[in-house]
Amino acid sequence: MLPIQQEPWSFPVFAPASPQAAEIHRLFDTVLLVCGGIFAIVAGLVLVALWRFRNREDRTPKQDFGSEKLEIAWIVGPVLVVTWLAVVTVQIVLTINVVPNAQAPSSRDPDLVVIGHQWWWEVRYHDPGLVDANEIHIPTGRKLLVELRSADVVHSFWVPRLARKMDAIPGKRNRIWLEADTPGVYRGWCSEFCGSQHAWMTFRVIAHEPADFGRWVAARQRERAEPETAAAKAGERLFHAVTCADCHSVGESGSRPNIGPDLAHIASRKELAGGALENTPANLARWLADPQAVKPQCRMPNFNLGDRQIQELVAWLSTLR
Ligand code: CUA
Repeated sequence: MLPIQQEPWSFPVFAPASPQAAEIHRLFDTVLLVCGGIFAIVAGLVLVALWRFRNREDRTPKQDFGSEKLEIAWIVGPVLVVTWLAVVTVQIVLTINVVPNAQAPSSRDPDLVVIGHQWWWEVRYHDPGLVDANEIHIPTGRKLLVELRSADVVHSFWVPRLARKMDAIPGKRNRIWLEADTPGVYRGWCSEFCGSQHAWMTFRVIAHEPADFGRWVAARQRERAEPETAAAKAGERLFHAVTCADCHSVGESGSRPNIGPDLAHIASRKELAGGALENTPANLARWLADPQAVKPQCRMPNFNLGDRQIQELVAWLSTLR
């Protein structure tokens, strides 16, 4: 088993943290109540029958064939219940899912573009133009328009406490609202099977108070400091020499490789490899030594790096905060 660092677990549907999730919660409660009631009636009648006709010489109760009233009741009753549930569901879906259409000419730019890759999430902020991976920082109390795309196969974006689920489909631009009422860390999952490492395609939404979010943006926009130690300098040279840069960008603007996650702020992330490893220097070294051992079939090859090379790369990457 891989060591995983998880947020305290709760059943997310009972802990909504956005207006959209609160609507879903309300629908869930309604359906649960109705279905619970039906279950109680059916189970209760079965128990009554068990009790009344227990241990008798003649075990057959009185038979009641061809009761028209009864037949009408058990057809009309369920039809009404199911129709009502369908109406309530459609109503809620419509209230939480009215998004500016990507195809409409009047449409506005999304606040965030999130791209599913096998097996990680690329996150692009429209304003300011920032890039990140597997972590989505947002300010609380703002309804953000997220555009979902895919770089390869169908993925599905889901943060149960904040929003509904939406697929990321190659060649399509699906849109969804993302919003958080209170600051916190909200776990998200890929929820469409997308290959062998589908399970390790998790991400985290980190909601900040608006002022804290401003500080986070300012920190992200600061110029990167040059590495100071000899090991970190060697690591930076090595990064370019062993062609890591062919797949990973390090905060460059313009066109940049996105086969693997951008690494400009890798040291400030909580996890590595889509949640498979906690982000510590030891785990980063383990990942660099043999990514395929940690996450088989992932796009990151084993570069057969020596121990010293790994230590140098870790020294440099650890400075990228
Ligand atoms: Cu991506 Cu499952």
